[in-house]
Amino acid sequence: MDKKLLSNTAATMVAKGRGILAADESSGTCETRFKTINTACTEESRRAYRGLLFTTPGAEQFISGVILYDETIRQKTDDGVLFPDYMARKGILPGIKVDSGAKNLALCPGEKVTEGLDGLRERLAAYFKLGARFAKWRAVITIGDGIPSHTCLYANAHALARYAALCQDASIVPMIEPEVLLDGGHSIERCEEVSEAALRATYAALSAHNVSFEHVILKASMVVSGKTNARQAGVDEVAERTLRVLKRTVPAAQPGVVFLSGGQSDVSATAHLNAMASMKGLPWPLTFSYSRALQNSALNAWQGQNANAGAAQRAFHHRAQMNGLASQGRWKAELEKQAA
Ligand code: 13P
Repeated sequence: MDKKLLSNTAATMVAKGRGILAADESSGTCETRFKTINTACTEESRRAYRGLLFTTPGAEQFISGVILYDETIRQKTDDGVLFPDYMARKGILPGIKVDSGAKNLALCPGEKVTEGLDGLRERLAAYFKLGARFAKWRAVITIGDGIPSHTCLYANAHALARYAALCQDASIVPMIEPEVLLDGGHSIERCEEVSEAALRATYAALSAHNVSFEHVILKASMVVSGKTNARQAGVDEVAERTLRVLKRTVPAAQPGVVFLSGGQSDVSATAHLNAMASMKGLPWPLTFSYSRALQNSALNAWQGQNANAGAAQRAFHHRAQMNGLASQGRWKAELEKQAA
């Protein structure tokens, strides 16, 4: 465990004005995304699309790290440079998704537990050699009638802690992601209650497994109204409730908190981050680790056509820049109109 390397990695991930691009969609998720633009999802089309994002001129100003998928960390740019090597030259940290997905949790109908601990020590060593300096593990918490259960929160927290300990042992910063899904008709109050319970369980497990809080990054879901709830909370309420939960549960020793976008619109994800980052006196820097909210507009501009690569890069650059500003509380809605 190289503590100096872990500290440097964590500090870079949340460096001022920069955040993370999540590009670790599984091939199945990629297929779903590519279907929306009528594009065949092949190893080559995935490489071409990821490559255009990673080689966007100037993206390194706003992007500190990229989460890759097992296939992607072994792929190359058009010029034949391995993606992680290309990123490292631009000062962007390569990261890697290491869980093997959320599976049905036995005897707990409607709930999931994330798998992938078997062989993880060896995979982490191999990923480190390929250049990965941080790793992501996503737990999925569903809100519904009588769920999440204590069993679900406990099982996911335990897996997150086992994974985080293995990462630190391998000098890789764990990005722990206990995602509370926004799907459902629940109220924002219920989301706040579940988010707090999930984080309490997660940090208790991290502590029980000797995980060093100084060398871990939380990837948090925001506290929002359920997607189909009649009352959709406004930006200030989301910011206030999310920060209240984080302050109650996340140790001040932690180097930073990043957020997922979870199906929010591009501009909502930016506005929420901006509102939170504007608050004074927080114990940790906040930034983004978005997949959909950074990629939607680029994917639509690309349409699977090489000829549209430039337009897709401009769309990606714009969202990265907007979120980079939001992470400092310096974003304004007018900036979106100016670009349109
Ligand atoms: P979204 O921003 O699309 O929620 O994805 C982030 C992520 O990495 C989910 O694991």
